[in-house]
Order: sequence, then C-alpha cells, then structure tokens
Amino acid sequence: MNMRIVARLINLPENRGVRVTAAKHPVLLVRVGDRVRAFQADCPHAGAPLEEGVICNGRIICPWHKAAFAVDSGAVIEPPALVGLTQYPVQVHDGVVSVGDEPIAAEAAPARDEHRCLAVIGAGAAGTAAVATLHQQGFSGRLLWIDREQAPAYDRTALSKFVIAGQMTPEDTPPLLDKQPIGIHGEVQRLDARAKRIELADGRHFDYDAALVATGGEAQPLDIPGAILSHVFVLRSREDAARIDEAAQSAACAVIVGDSFIGLEAASALRQRGLVVQVVSRHDIPLAAQLGKRIGAAIRQLHEDNGVIFHCNTEPERFDGHGAVSTVLLKNGKRLAADLVVMGVGVTPATGFIQDVDKAEDQSLNADSHLQVAPGLWAAGDNVTFAWRQQPTRIEHWRVAQQLAVLAARNMLGDTQVYADVPFFWTYHFDKTFEVLGHPLHWNRLHVEGDVSRHDFIALLCRDDQVEAVIACEHQQAMARLSQRMQHPLGKAEALAIIRAD
Ligand SMILES: Cc1cc2nc3c(=O)[nH]c(=O)nc-3n(C[C@H](O)[C@H](O)[C@H](O)COP(=O)(O)OP(=O)(O)OC[C@H]3O[C@@H](n4cnc5c(N)ncnc54)[C@H](O)[C@@H]3O)c2cc1C
Ligand code: FES
Repeated sequence: MNMRIVARLINLPENRGVRVTAAKHPVLLVRVGDRVRAFQADCPHAGAPLEEGVICNGRIICPWHKAAFAVDSGAVIEPPALVGLTQYPVQVHDGVVSVGDEPIAAEAAPARDEHRCLAVIGAGAAGTAAVATLHQQGFSGRLLWIDREQAPAYDRTALSKFVIAGQMTPEDTPPLLDKQPIGIHGEVQRLDARAKRIELADGRHFDYDAALVATGGEAQPLDIPGAILSHVFVLRSREDAARIDEAAQSAACAVIVGDSFIGLEAASALRQRGLVVQVVSRHDIPLAAQLGKRIGAAIRQLHEDNGVIFHCNTEPERFDGHGAVSTVLLKNGKRLAADLVVMGVGVTPATGFIQDVDKAEDQSLNADSHLQVAPGLWAAGDNVTFAWRQQPTRIEHWRVAQQLAVLAARNMLGDTQVYADVPFFWTYHFDKTFEVLGHPLHWNRLHVEGDVSRHDFIALLCRDDQVEAVIACEHQQAMARLSQRMQHPLGKAEALAIIRAD
C-alpha cells in the first residue's frame, strides 16, 4: 500500500477535523492526543464537508444535519447518516502524518443466532433506519420490510426544497441506502397485534414475531369545496412532488395554504422557479408557535424580501375552476389567482390499519419509553407518542424519526434503550438553513446572539436560566457542539460560552 505524507501533527487541532488530499480521495484527519485517524472527508448522508463540523464527546459531528460518528472507528452513532465513515490507515513518524490510499476493511457485526421473523412496516425515515440497524446488529432471521410505495426509501426532505423547485428530478431524490434490501410492495390494511399478523390490501398476509410500525403520517387535504379539483396538492411523497413539479412547469401563480414548515419551504421553492407565490395563513406571523414571534417574523420577512405575498388571519373558503383550480376564494372575501395550490396544513398519523392498541387523541400510537406499543409491537417516527423526559411527546422531524427507529430496532432485538437525545430539525428557505435543537414548549426567555433580521444568529430559548431549545441560522459548528452538550441540562451562561468560543 502507498503511504503519502499529508500533514504535520503539530498543525492538527483536537476539536476539529482537517481535510487533506491523500493519494486517491480527500480525507479527514482527526487527532486525539498523539493519535491520528483518517476517514472519508464527506458525510455519507448528503456529502457535507466534515471538517466544517466539530469533534467532541469522542464523536465527529456533521455540520449540516448533526450525524455523529465515533472518532476511533468512524462507526455511525447518530443519524441521518445510516452508514459509518470509511477509514484509512495512518502512520505518524517524528510528527509527520502519512495516510494510506486503500481503505481499512470495515468489521461486519457478528451474526446473531436469531430465528424470529421481524416485520418493519414503512420504508421512510424510520423504517429505513430500523432496517439499517437490524443489519448492523447482525440480525440473521427473516425480515419482512413492507411499503406501499413502488420505490420507497428516499430522502423525503429534498422534495419541498429541491424537487418542486425544479432543481432535482423526482427520480434523482437521494436514496436512503446504497444497497437496498428487497422489501415487499403492498399496502398494509390490517395489523392484528394480538395474533401478530399483517394483512395487505391485495390479500397477502404475514405472521411475525415482532413488528415495527413506521408508517409516518398522511398529509391532510382541506375539507372545503373544490379540494378535489386537479392541481390542488398535498406534499408528502415523491409522487406528490412529481405532480407539483409537473404542474409548476406551465404555471404562473401558486397559492400555498398554511404557514407550516412544509408550506413555507414550498413557497420558497416555487418562488425560486419564478412563480408568483401567495401564502394564506391563519396567523400573522408564521411558525411563531414553534420558533417564537421574533424568529417567525424574520422568516416571513425573508419570504417577503423574495417576493412571496402573505394573506394573514384568513383561510380559504373554496377552490374554484373548471377541472383544474384557477382561483382561491378566501374567507376575507379576496380571490387569488392559482394555477396550482399546495396545502400544507398538517398530517395525521398513518395508523388506521391498527385497531386493537392504545392510541392518542391524534391517532398516534401510544408507546412506552422503549417505544413498545403492545407485546411484540414497536413504533417509531411521526406516528408515535412516546415518553420523552417524562412527557408524552410526538415529534415530526426526520432525524428524530430515525433516532427512534434505531432504538426501537435495538429494543426489538432485546435491548431496553430509551430516547435521551436532543431533537434536531432543519428547514431551508431562500438558501438559508434554519436549525432547531430541542423541543421548545415551555420557554419564557429569549436570548439572541447575532442579528435575527439578517438571518445570522443563534437564539437561546430558555425556561428561566435553563436552555430549552436553540435556534440558529449560519452557526452550524456551535449547533453541532450544542447537539452533544444539550443531552444534559444546560444553563444559559455555559451555552453562551460554547457559542462565543466557536
Ligand atoms: C416534503 C417534506 C419535507 C420535510 N423536510 C424536513 C426537514 O427539512 N427536516 C426535518 O427534520 N423533517 C422534515 N420533514 C419531516 C420528515 O420527513 C418526517 O418527520 C419523517 O419523514 C418521518 O419519518 P417516518 O418514517 O415516520 O414517516 P415517512 O418518512 O413518511 O415514512 C412512512 C412510510 O410508510 C409508508 N406507509 C404508510 N402507510 C402504509 C401502509 N398502510 N402500508 C404500507 N406502507 C405504508 C409510506 O409509504 C412511507 O414510505 C419533511 C416532511 C416532508 C413531507
Ligand atoms: S450531510 Fe451529514 S448529516 Fe446530513
């Protein structure tokens, strides 16, 4: 193997990786004391440059969506990445660091002696993370992996950001796994938790020993006249995005109903492809319930600065048109031209096929802190209410869905893990990424570093002096560090010290 000199030890900091070019690939050098390791330099999730992340807690944290990898092996510890980092051999002689050009073969998990049949229903964020975990844990029994979509296991988050913006074709939506194990294509119509049996709409049925329900949510259409006209859309699946993309190609104006994250991402995407975009919202300030009024107002301003028109404190009365929608009549009497409509007004947990288990009012499955719903039945993702910090909690975030699924899959194999992590969410508008750490529900004080109106800030949402959540734009490294530190109670003073040090 060829070894190539790439750096001097003295030039390698310990809190951050350094990108260098080895013989064939860029690599990330990671130093712990006098020991140096070399890994692939780009994140396996969506290709973020890992040198822009941080190293803390024995982990390499990705700057973009906070995947975590072990510094000693590159093994994946936290999603959205589902695979570890490729590692390369390193030699350090007299303070000079050399890297080999051939990767070190990754160790496969020893196969478990397992004869049970496990079922995973859903191949979205949660289902795919669960299947990846079962493989990583050496599960060797029978696996039934079922989804109703023809080609599932893609990155749904790209749909509202890039696909409907016309920047990515629906077919190019990134897959979640490189080598996708063969699943079962079919709609689950009934799950009998007592008999441990799954029935598909086409009549097939399967018995299982343990099952994970990872069916996410159904986007809710509005129940108003004209909602069945063509070119009135919801956005959840690749097919939805393909239909919106196709309609947008010949459209001049779009109406977005709802100021949710998805509604506003859709507004940003369609505006960037040149459509006149109008948002109809029940609120004055979008996202105020999730992010607070000041940050919500800044996001509205960002949209307005880019030409999005808001109609606030109202909602649609009806959609009108001949075959396809052409106008939207609002309850305040205004009529808006619309070649297409996107309804972003929320989702309902997709759990209608299970009757004999405990459900919450919103139809999500009530699970215990181990994500177990009933004997032999677990749930993960948008469809589960689980105990987090002693509170029944349901969270609709990509990375959380994956984290829950990793735990549930491990627990199906006999572990008893609970969710003790920090929820993380990101959203993208007009080339600005806003990141949220924590689940802000009970905060009463806001402390802002930077300038919210210029979209360059990091804001602490505190309950008295304890940090409950952090929201940021353009502060990915501090957020990466906080994603680790916030796993334990964090005071405002220490949070500020972390932010100011980055
Ligand atoms: C357009 C869009 C953009 C988003 N952007 C972001 C973002 O930027 N950041 C973020 O944190 N979150 C984002 N989210 C939220 C995030 O995608 C969800 O929280 C996440 O997908 C939840 O994962 P899940 O596995 O529970 O559900 P899903 O990913 O929806 O997967 C559920 C799967 O189950 C299948 N299924 C459902 N019912 C059945 C059935 N009866 N039989 C068989 N199969 C079934 C579905 O076909 C689907 O493949 C976005 C969501 C959308 C829709
Ligand atoms: S690019 Fe690294 S977690 Fe997404």
